[in-house]
Amino acid sequence: RQILVLHGPNLNLLGVREPQHYGATTLAEINQRLVEQACLHGVTCDTFQSNAEAALIERVHATLHDGTDFIIINPAAYTHTSIALRDAISAVKIPFIEVHLSNVHAREPFRHHSYFSDLAVGVICGLGPLGYELALEYALHHNQTIAA
Ligand code: DQA
Repeated sequence: RQILVLHGPNLNLLGVREPQHYGATTLAEINQRLVEQACLHGVTCDTFQSNAEAALIERVHATLHDGTDFIIINPAAYTHTSIALRDAISAVKIPFIEVHLSNVHAREPFRHHSYFSDLAVGVICGLGPLGYELALEYALHHNQTIAA
């Protein structure tokens, strides 16, 4: 079992960036919790952040050969813009949960549309870093959604 956690642009600034929307927890802290939580269940958890669309797309492509069977993704601003990243995640056919720290529906209208939600197993938003942990919890306990 292997789970990939993908973080889109600007999420490397978590803890510093607009804490009223994104909280005080850093990306390193979020990732560490996820890796530990997965490890307790004997599951490998790889994490990857990039500010570059191409790098995110290439990391998604790599899941075709690296044993990933579930993806947790916060595409950040690419949520609202990237048909290319959507096409990549659609192409690899690995089930995924879309996570947003903030409640995108309570913010500007341009954040209300996602290029990912209709393909996702589920979407979590507005719960801060806990959203990632709940997504991982789901991935760990709902094996029937995991591709063979
Ligand atoms: C975000 C919401 C997006 O609208 C925004 O562009 C982000 C972060 C979130 O986690 O709340 O960068 O995905």
